[in-house]
Amino acid sequence: MAILQATHLLKRFGSVTAVRDLSLTIAEGEVVGLLGPNGAGKSTTLHMMLGLITPDAGSIKLFGMELAQHRTEALSQVNFAASYVDLPGVLRVREVLDAFARLYAVRHPRRRVDEMIELFELGPLAKRQLMALSSGQRTRVQLAKALLNAPRLLVLDEPTANLDPDAGDRIRGLLSRLARENGSAMLITSHNMREVERMCDRIHFMSDGVVVAAGSAAELAGRYGAEDLEEVFLKVARG
Ligand SMILES: Nc1ncnc2c1ncn2[C@@H]1O[C@H](COP(=O)(O)OP(=O)(O)O)[C@@H](O)[C@H]1O
Ligand SMILES: [Mg+2]
Repeated sequence: MAILQATHLLKRFGSVTAVRDLSLTIAEGEVVGLLGPNGAGKSTTLHMMLGLITPDAGSIKLFGMELAQHRTEALSQVNFAASYVDLPGVLRVREVLDAFARLYAVRHPRRRVDEMIELFELGPLAKRQLMALSSGQRTRVQLAKALLNAPRLLVLDEPTANLDPDAGDRIRGLLSRLARENGSAMLITSHNMREVERMCDRIHFMSDGVVVAAGSAAELAGRYGAEDLEEVFLKVARG
């Protein structure tokens, strides 16, 4: 059974068609990358999958359930992290995680928060206010929050966008391990082509609201006669 099955999605904002006729499937445990130039419609696509905005046409099924009809049940098994989402800066790391663990009705909230603090090496930061953290530290808190409910689908919008190469590399390592060990499916956007090559089983290239190419990094490189994904991106983006 597919974790996510989106068919013929359409989303307009006034006169702008952000997403037109987009279909995308994610299997259990699969890591799928959504690539494309700024304004291609990636974030809009993710926000529809998360129920944050409603498509004008098309259907989204999560775990076999229509999102529109089974919103609460479907979304309880999903989570989200993005470089542009800010958690409340005055709260301390552990307070934020405690609050979200309760919000998600996690079964053993204290134990789960401890596990996430351990996994993301947040122990020394647990009592610090979020506003006093570096971008890399804040990203780790975001991911810890996003994994509290052990989501079967983790949606990440440019998770490493604000990170230096070392912090980014550590986050990538952690996410890859999670996908491997927990079988979590992921839908990721990124402008870091090496990151996508390393992490994603399959890639969808978007341009102007539609998927223009899909396949593994190697398949896409072959199809476009390109050395690597970066070259594929340039060829796709420049038509
Ligand atoms: N809330 C909104 N209101 C109006 N236009 C929007 C809104 N969100 C996105 N758009 C427009 O939709 C298009 C796709 O945006 P977006 O999904 O953010 O692209 P990406 O994430 O690929 O950079 C862009 O033209 C953007 O300006
Ligand atoms: Mg975006």
